[in-house]
Amino acid sequence: MKNNPLKINILLILLTGLFSLAPTCQSGITQSTTYPIELFSEMHYSPAYKSQETPRLQPVPEAVVNIDSIGTENQYDMTIEDFKYNHELGKDLYRVNCSFCHGNEGLGDGPAKEYIISENSYYSTNKVDGLPGSGSGTPYISPPQLNDIEVRYGNRDSAYNRIYQMLNSEIGFGPMPGFLRVLSEEERKQIIEFILDKDYGLNK
Ligand code: HEC
Repeated sequence: MKNNPLKINILLILLTGLFSLAPTCQSGITQSTTYPIELFSEMHYSPAYKSQETPRLQPVPEAVVNIDSIGTENQYDMTIEDFKYNHELGKDLYRVNCSFCHGNEGLGDGPAKEYIISENSYYSTNKVDGLPGSGSGTPYISPPQLNDIEVRYGNRDSAYNRIYQMLNSEIGFGPMPGFLRVLSEEERKQIIEFILDKDYGLNK
């Protein structure tokens, strides 16, 4: 096959172009003590900028520290013996964490209810084995009412234990999230007390 002079010329032009670009790419080649690929210089890794960084701030000594993120106990270093029910706090924690499903008054009518009981929801259960997550058409049960939980469970202790058990899960139950790692023991207790509170809470 005959060599095409035009092809060779184009090749030469391309090669010359590449070589003439090489010196401008110098910053892309490893510089000592910096991040190896520095096409766009990274403030984070550059010693020049590092010397100008302000010292790291330390947390305040009283800050709550998650001392054990693997075990299930002592999520927060909170002495439960010091627990004191505060209905404002309980109400607020309930409003933020529970009301969008269980409703502000515990009537099971929060705004997320429509989604949970829709047969198109992710939580609609498999007709064959009843497991959630298959989206195959049997609606998941509606978030239960909580304003009558003491009556339904017969007495305060049973109702308390039931709510406690529901909040002590890591993975939750169907659409209901697990709160074990989301809320501290103290916060969970505030919520339970608020639900069962006959004066300011849900079980009036
Ligand atoms: C995303 C919606 C959702 C959120 C948020 C939610 N739940 Fe639930 N909850 C449900 C559903 C659905 C069930 C029924 C679960 C089942 O039985 O499969 C349920 C069940 C319960 C039960 C059992 C009730 C009974 O009659 O036995 C309790 C107690 C409960 N939730 C308390 C809470 C509390 C307290 C919070 C807030 C910390 C909360 N839930 C947050 C959806 C939710």
